[in-house]
Amino acid sequence: MSVPFLDLKTQYKTIQSEITSALQNVSDSAAFAGGPFVEKFEKEFASFCQSEFAVGVGSGTDALWVTLMCLGIGKGDEVITTPNTFIATAEAITFCGAKPMFVDIDEQTYNMDFELLKGVITTKTKAIIPVHLFGQPADMDPIIKIAQEYGLFVIEDACQAHGAEYKGRRAGSIGHAGCFSFYPGKNLGAYGEAGAVVTNSAELAEKIKRFRDHGQVKKYFHSMIGWNARMDGFQGAVLSVKLKHLSAWNEARIKNAKLYNELLADIDKVKTPIEADYAKHIYHIYAIRTKNRNALMSSLAEKNISCGIHYPIPLHIQEVYRFLGYGLGSFPVVEKCAEEFLSLPMFPELTGDQIKVVVKEIKYFFAK
Ligand SMILES: Cc1ncc(COP(=O)(O)O)c(C=O)c1O
Repeated sequence: MSVPFLDLKTQYKTIQSEITSALQNVSDSAAFAGGPFVEKFEKEFASFCQSEFAVGVGSGTDALWVTLMCLGIGKGDEVITTPNTFIATAEAITFCGAKPMFVDIDEQTYNMDFELLKGVITTKTKAIIPVHLFGQPADMDPIIKIAQEYGLFVIEDACQAHGAEYKGRRAGSIGHAGCFSFYPGKNLGAYGEAGAVVTNSAELAEKIKRFRDHGQVKKYFHSMIGWNARMDGFQGAVLSVKLKHLSAWNEARIKNAKLYNELLADIDKVKTPIEADYAKHIYHIYAIRTKNRNALMSSLAEKNISCGIHYPIPLHIQEVYRFLGYGLGSFPVVEKCAEEFLSLPMFPELTGDQIKVVVKEIKYFFAK
């Protein structure tokens, strides 16, 4: 039996008629760029995230960048995040003119180690971007406390955490703003590129709405230099349909993670993910750790089981970020995890039988 890493086609079949009619409605009303379907989704997504406002944009990368720009962060400023994330988190910082400053991660949750934060805060620091990696929120209370002490913004990178919770509060709703990606493979994925910013600040939401639409207050009246970072109508309509299913899909992922945890529990050489006491983890990625990662991945590939690595090269040692002056050894926990992470197949429609096949092949590998 082959097991894909992700299977968007199977999910599409379960919602095909809803999607087709939603797309038809967009075509019938020709509301292609922004417009009522995006506005409807924004209201629904804000409510889902327990936030006052949601603003749809073109991607998760846009969401991060536009938020930094609208908070006035730019040249000469520093923004703290972790090097254990998709490059977009750091790119957004660089692209608004600021400098990314990294801190190492906690070895249990793989998220920002708040104990290290104060050590990198300088007079230039303007914001902290905790990344809720793999679908588990970072420990937000201490991060917010430190941010308040130093007068910093907190922007949650919730691009992998749609519906995840921190002490009962939805990821994205805790800091000044939460940024989401609706890249097709995400727990809530569009049928193309899309993203959103959620916030409780009316002022920030209004500024981002203007910014994403060329700084327009009304057609052809521009009050600021902005950009075209709008969400398109088809994506708004697809996301409204899919949002109704998100909680059930997240529960299916949680069930799958529990089964993996149970079945992998007796393999000493595999470390399964830990859900922190404060968290509801929604398993965008189910990452195990093992010292035999590369050989195990090849062995599973031979059996047609597809896995991923998130992420093989930490940002501080990527060629593009050499200019920041970090090197091997700068962030030991991130570097160790990057050599050991292996993301197993994970999606809501993954069956118990498929999980059993994956685990059987992992056991076979370690028994060899
Ligand atoms: C943690 C994180 N941040 C940012 C992004 C960027 O989102 P997008 O691909 O929608 O631009 C992603 C998506 O891959 C992500 O996983």
